[in-house]
Amino acid sequence: MTHPTLPDTKTEAPICRLRCINCSAVADRADQDFRCSSCGDLFEVFYPGWQTRQGLKAAGLDAQSLKQLWRDRKSSLAPADTSGVWRFRELLPSLRSGNEPITLREGNTPLYELPRCARATGMQSLQAKHQGMNPTASFKDTGMTTAASFARQEGFRWVACASTGNTSASMAAYAARGGMRSLVLIPEGKISWGKLSQSLDYGAVTCQLRTDFDGCVKVLNELVRRKPIYLLNSVNPYRLEGQKTAAIELLEELDWQPPDHIIVPGGNLGNSSALGKALLEMKDLGLIARLPKLSVIQAEGANPFYRSIREQGGKTLSPMQADTMATAIRIGNPASWKKARKVVEATEGTVEQVSEVEIASAKAEIGADGIGCEPASAVTLAGLKKLVRQGFAKPNEAVVLILTGHALKDPEFTLKFHRGDLFSGTADEKHAALLAPQQRAPLVLDATAEAVAKTLDEFDREVPGE
Ligand code: F0G
Repeated sequence: MTHPTLPDTKTEAPICRLRCINCSAVADRADQDFRCSSCGDLFEVFYPGWQTRQGLKAAGLDAQSLKQLWRDRKSSLAPADTSGVWRFRELLPSLRSGNEPITLREGNTPLYELPRCARATGMQSLQAKHQGMNPTASFKDTGMTTAASFARQEGFRWVACASTGNTSASMAAYAARGGMRSLVLIPEGKISWGKLSQSLDYGAVTCQLRTDFDGCVKVLNELVRRKPIYLLNSVNPYRLEGQKTAAIELLEELDWQPPDHIIVPGGNLGNSSALGKALLEMKDLGLIARLPKLSVIQAEGANPFYRSIREQGGKTLSPMQADTMATAIRIGNPASWKKARKVVEATEGTVEQVSEVEIASAKAEIGADGIGCEPASAVTLAGLKKLVRQGFAKPNEAVVLILTGHALKDPEFTLKFHRGDLFSGTADEKHAALLAPQQRAPLVLDATAEAVAKTLDEFDREVPGE
């Protein structure tokens, strides 16, 4: 069976380099802060090795051969082939010979139909790719497998990230698997218990700083200049390469027929950048014939990218004090906004914002379809509803929502929603009545069949035909 670091029988390792997204400086290694030493902007990975006399080819293979190779690997038992990330390794940076990837068999996530959500949105159909079905229950694992593997290859003992909870959970798991120590900086009191408990369980040194996510990023940036620590935030371009594979896997699941529209939540904007990069690369390599639109949805209280695009034409981004109950995307100064702007423009997508009540309602709708997700993921459905009302998304279009985190990441939000006290004491309290029809509080009954049967009868009368 094939190994990601050894040349395949049919392929050669791709030659990859780093390029600054601002001044185009090219490098083969980045400093510890992953910033361009000339201008301070971010790097992206690019593959000069794809240039051939016959046009762009990854690992020397044409589109059909790549598709066949990736399909064939599905019957392989080798760890790198059972990973839904490394299976697509022709489109990834390769590890040096002798370095194994750190993998938890990430990726391989399902694409679900959402029939009730489609009806509620006025769409003929609707699909969701559930990245919450990854090993640590969020999309972060697809990028962590690549970046953590590079950290180990570089010989780092410590890896670190600032996080709203999912990156830290994922990093802690991959560091543990790879025999590295991990340092987590999270905003005190502003991440869900589910996520915090994961990083503790996976053995990270977990620091709750008295600040927000953006404050944690600042502290970490200073720290990596002082200590030999490998930075695993999404400014690390090797993470985005792994995250890119979710879009490749999605297109494979759709038999390479692009949907009309892919909708992603936006926080630090690494994920939208990564998925968009994959779409552009797949188009360049002839794997897909046309580009789906890629749209980014933010929470109204954490909407710096929305405001940048709508108010400043995407030329600058003004950082803000962010606040939303969708704590995963409670980010006021997104690192990858320029990368995200590029892919939204290139795919002719858009950027929208949604309210807290819209997020809560959309999350319950996704739950009622038997899928569920964490609050930040639900901005996608709430955003789609708005885009349909505006006419930007059409009822007959094929739309895929990217659900980024599992429902069990934030059960406290879900319980409060169903008990009816999610918005108690907040400015949204007056709108909360709108949500009552979606709420299903647990019922406390006498322990008799009669009491339960009576309740069933009441429900039968209340919701005929359901
Ligand atoms: N959805 C979930 C569940 C997330 O955890 C995040 C980001 C996003 C969406 C937004 O993705 O930042 O790439 O735009 N979580 C990060 C973290 C910031 O630290 O876990 P993005």
